[in-house]
Amino acid sequence: MVLNQIVNLGYLAGVILFIIGLRQLSSPRTARMGNIWAAVGMAIAIIVTFILPLEKGDNNFLIILLGMAIGSGIGWVSAKRVAMTAMPQMVSIFNGLGGACSVAIAMVELSAHQELYAAGGPGAVAAGGHLTALLAMFVGAVAFTGSLIAYGKLEDLIDDRKIRIPQSTIVNLVILAVIVGGIVYNMISPAASSAFTLVVVLMVIALIYGITFVIPIGGADMPVVIALLNAFSGIAGALAGLVYQNQVMLVGGILVGASGVILTVLMCQAMNRSLWNVIIGGFGSAGPAKAQAGDRIVREITLNDAAILLTYSRSVILVPGYGMAVAQAQKTCHELETILESNGVSVAYAIHPVAGRMPGHMNVLLAEADVAYTKLLDLDDANRVLADTDVVIVVGANDVVNPAALDDPSSPIYGMPILEILKAKNTIVLKRSMSPGYAGIDNPLFFHEKNRMLFGDAKATLEKLTMEIKTVI
Ligand code: TAP
Repeated sequence: MVLNQIVNLGYLAGVILFIIGLRQLSSPRTARMGNIWAAVGMAIAIIVTFILPLEKGDNNFLIILLGMAIGSGIGWVSAKRVAMTAMPQMVSIFNGLGGACSVAIAMVELSAHQELYAAGGPGAVAAGGHLTALLAMFVGAVAFTGSLIAYGKLEDLIDDRKIRIPQSTIVNLVILAVIVGGIVYNMISPAASSAFTLVVVLMVIALIYGITFVIPIGGADMPVVIALLNAFSGIAGALAGLVYQNQVMLVGGILVGASGVILTVLMCQAMNRSLWNVIIGGFGSAGPAKAQAGDRIVREITLNDAAILLTYSRSVILVPGYGMAVAQAQKTCHELETILESNGVSVAYAIHPVAGRMPGHMNVLLAEADVAYTKLLDLDDANRVLADTDVVIVVGANDVVNPAALDDPSSPIYGMPILEILKAKNTIVLKRSMSPGYAGIDNPLFFHEKNRMLFGDAKATLEKLTMEIKTVI
């Protein structure tokens, strides 16, 4: 009894620390500390869980500790090694493993149910508990294989332009109907001798559904899918927590599930798309496209002209994108900002919510380079001040500044809110070539009369530009 109370108090402390941690994760200033609080909460939850088997007198401590050591070792090494640009892949894999854990827990429980039902007939297990375990298995399985596919797409192991499922929406609806039908049948006759076999078949179908669900979703919609799968793994965790009546797992799952849902909604809003449209849309999976200049004119700018233009400006806005992350040019951006500010030019950064490859990607990189948080403008604030801006420098961004979203109804990104940088007096786009961005579509900005291209790797070019400015001032 006393041991049980200690465990419950430990869980309560863990849950409180999760909530404090999550709260602090909402600002880059406090995020690092938030992560530590949540990790301490998790450590407490894990330690007190070891007390539970002591009451019964038997335990599997050796196997558990071995599993933990292997898992922690792999987690530690991969977290240490992962490049900032590969973070979404890592999040994806971790989501998937969370889902797989829920499947494992649910299957153990469902096989125990089968024995209980066989011994006592229907009523031997509470129907609510059985349904919860079935749902944990289903949602966890979708989160698992769906995340593996998302990982493959982000890592370029799966080319979603080549793999196509004909009539994917219908195929997915049929698979979903089969799973729902199977769950209903299992709930009606849980004591049938083949009941657990049916559960195993349902698990395999749910694993397949995770694949067919994510395959058709276009590359450019991956941020929404990752957030959605994150929500799924949280929901599966919460359901598994209900199955085990484990409060810390339940609340932890609810927190992950709820934040995943909120993030999914925010990402959809940032792209001005409904979730349904994302799931069936295939945006970004259209045939490969290269931006062709054709007979349109691309104007380049020399480093010297760019340095003069910037030095004699009143206000400059930098628009970072995925290319800044690839080039690791965040510190060089900060150096450019410092030298311009010391010359009386006001500098800010305009951050699009889906710039880069994961939510908050640009904010994290710029915070790492000591850029003041107050210098980061969100989409709406940036669009308000762009008309009063002399020069916008686009550092490896493309889709998030594509004006086709505003004025080309035939464009796949039409209607997506973008940074309206053509409101500014001059724009300079810094990238290596005329290649399109993640959505694989042409960008009319490159040919606009206000725009000049500065070709080259973002970091190397910004370094040269900063040197050039030093010679101009
Ligand atoms: P993108 O549209 O992907 O464009 C990035 C640009 O960076 C490319 O056109 C590329 O052109 C350039 N680039 C790459 N390496 C570079 C380097 N070393 N130096 C200079 N430039 C370099 O990026 P974005 O504007 O940030 O838009 C993000 C896109 O990704 C959106 O379509 C969004 O939906 C999608 N997405 C976002 C997320 C999240 S949550 N943020 C997740 C997944 C996908 P060159 O090859 O010519 O250099």
